[in-house]
Order: sequence, then C-alpha cells, then structure tokens
Amino acid sequence: MNKKKVAIIGGGQVAEKVHVSYYQSRDDIDLVAVVGRNHERVEEFAERNGIPRFYTDAEAMYEEEKPDMVSICTPNKYHYENTMQALSYGCDVLCEKPPAILAEDAKKMKEKAEENNRILAYNFHHRFADDVQVLKDKVTEGILGDVYFIKVQAMRRCGIPGWGTFTDKTIQGGGPLIDLGVHMLDAALYVLGYPKVEKVTAKMFQKIGNKKSTGMFGEWDPNKFEVEDSLFGFIELEGGRLLQLETSFALNIKEQSIMNVEFCGDQAGATLFPAQIYTDEGGELLSLFHREKADPDRHPKSLEAFVDRCLGKETMIADAKEGYMIQQLIEALYHSAEKGESVSYE
Ligand SMILES: NC(=O)c1ccc[n+]([C@@H]2O[C@H](COP(=O)([O-])OP(=O)(O)OC[C@H]3O[C@@H](n4cnc5c(N)ncnc54)[C@H](O)[C@@H]3O)[C@@H](O)[C@H]2O)c1
Repeated sequence: MNKKKVAIIGGGQVAEKVHVSYYQSRDDIDLVAVVGRNHERVEEFAERNGIPRFYTDAEAMYEEEKPDMVSICTPNKYHYENTMQALSYGCDVLCEKPPAILAEDAKKMKEKAEENNRILAYNFHHRFADDVQVLKDKVTEGILGDVYFIKVQAMRRCGIPGWGTFTDKTIQGGGPLIDLGVHMLDAALYVLGYPKVEKVTAKMFQKIGNKKSTGMFGEWDPNKFEVEDSLFGFIELEGGRLLQLETSFALNIKEQSIMNVEFCGDQAGATLFPAQIYTDEGGELLSLFHREKADPDRHPKSLEAFVDRCLGKETMIADAKEGYMIQQLIEALYHSAEKGESVSYE
C-alpha cells in the first residue's frame, strides 16, 4: 500500500502531545518530517519523537518530502503563511486554532483551499467530544424547544501559559479570547449550526497578568504581558438568540478552570461537558438526559476526522468556512472591546 505522507510545521508542545502521537498511532500514514525554526530544537524534537527527518526551511521540506498532509502547529501569527504555502504545494492541511489573527487572512486561506481543491481543517477539537454530537442531535430534535440564551465560558483563575508566546500580542493576536474562548465558541456555534451573527458587544481587562508572574501553567514576565487577561461579550445571533461569553486567563473566580457551554431553551436547558439536559417541574430539577463524564478523547477524534477525510471518508471537520466565520467573530469582539462600541454585521 502506498501510504500517505504527513509533515508537521512547528515542533512545540501541541505538535508533540497531540499531532505526533496521533499520526504515529496509525499504520496507514507515515509521519515523515518536522519543520522548526531553531536547528537544535527541531533536531531534538525529531529525535525524541522518532521522526525520520527535520528541516528549518519549509520549502526544502516540501520539495524533498512531497507530503500529502500537513499539520500547522506554529504560533498563531504564522498559521496564515504556513497554511497558504502548504496549500500551494498541494497538501491537505490541519491548522491549529485559531485559524489566523485577521479575518481577512482566514478568508484567503478558505479561498486558497477552494481554488486548489484541498481540505483545510482547523483543530477545534472540543466539538469532536461525544457530548457535543449527542447534544447537537438533541437540540436539532427540539428537546430544548426554542434555544434563546447561550452561555459560553472558557475561564481560568490563574492559567496564563508560561511557555511559548501566549502573552505576546503581535504573535498571538490576543489573550484568552483568541486562545480559549475560540474553542468554546466553536463548540456552541457548531451545536447551533453556525447561525449568523447580528451584533457583538465586548469589554476586556488587563488586571492580573501584568502584576502576578506565576500560576497553574508556570511563570511569565508581567512586564511583557501584552494581551487581555479577561474578556466578556454579548453576541446577538439571528432569530433573536443571545450568547453571553466569559473568557479569562486570569480572573478571581472560585474554580481553577471552567470550559463549558450552557444552552437555555423554552422547554429545557443543557450543559455541554458532560452533556446533560434538564428542565423544571414544579420548582424541582428534572433530568432528561445525563452523562456522568465528558468525553476526554477529543483531540484524537479531531485528528482522526481530518486524516479519514483526506483518505476519502465523509467525516465531519471544522472546515475553512467555519474557520473564517469564527475569525470574523473574534475580530468583531476585539474591535468592540477596543473601541468601546457595539459592532453590527450587515
Ligand atoms: N487545539 C488545542 O487545544 C491547542 C492546544 C495548544 C496549542 N494550540 C495552538 O497550537 C499552536 C502552537 O501552540 P504550542 O502550545 O504548541 O506552542 P509552542 O510555543 O510550544 O510551539 C510552537 C512551535 O512553533 C515553532 N515555530 C515558531 N514559528 C515557526 C515558523 N514560522 N515555522 C516553523 N516553526 C515555527 C516554535 O519554535 C515552537 O517550537 C498555537 O496556535 C496554539 O493556539 C492548540
């Protein structure tokens, strides 16, 4: 059998924990190479992970390896240029989230994938949890009735990443909204069938990351903390629905971390992780559906969907169109928070 070849651009922590381990678990594809910026570090990465070849020049990698599929695992700023390059070399692409920093770039990525007839997927892995699939079906069946309020939470009490470039605004494009909020927004919008956004209002803060220097994900330099540490927003969706967003890297809340979505309909309500549906009967909570634990296997399921799609199966992926839509929403939320005014969509 002629195995499809896959390469990874950006040998950092998500590449190692998620992409390498999944690709190496399959015997119908070959992980052939990794590209990094620093010679020593990428060499070490390749050795540690048993990847046959490494490069510091992506073009040389494409010319020599001719991969069929590529994972883009660089910091956010470089998603755009690396995805465009991979698509122009005829590869199918799985790009880490967020799609890009600018909506305009996510649009060009989508257009390039269409022009070249290639698959472009984003690793919004939370939507691959069984919980999300179950709830999407139940919402579509109408068990919740008219879902008119949605609460999206992607919050950490003190979880500023101590590695990488997550506090650098130029390289990441922002803080918890573009890094964490984007995940739960995707899960919520996916359940709702990616409805049209009508109006966005947001406010953001930088109150803790520029003062403290240590938390659950290690240490950072408060003098180089350039991003928001919390952002809150209201997103008005078509059909009169309201979505409330709360996202933080650092905020004085009780829980260490909350990643969840709540859907409130006129018949019943639901939480996503784990999927549970409930209603009220005479003032008492009545459970209509109850999963004990949320599905932990979201990353492998996301990668599996991408690889299987590349191999010709009709799997669900977080596609380039949805990637563009969510990037527009992220941009509108930041715009609103920066300008102190609501942003209306046409
Ligand atoms: N889906 C998820 O849950 C999830 C989890 C973590 C990170 N991510 C995303 O993955 C990306 C990387 O995050 P990370 O935590 O692995 O960061 P990281 O800093 O650990 O890794 C990034 C790697 O990319 C390399 N790099 C930088 N610029 C490059 C370039 N132009 N070409 C090739 N390599 C380059 C860096 O040297 C580093 O090794 C980010 O976009 C992040 O949002 C997603």
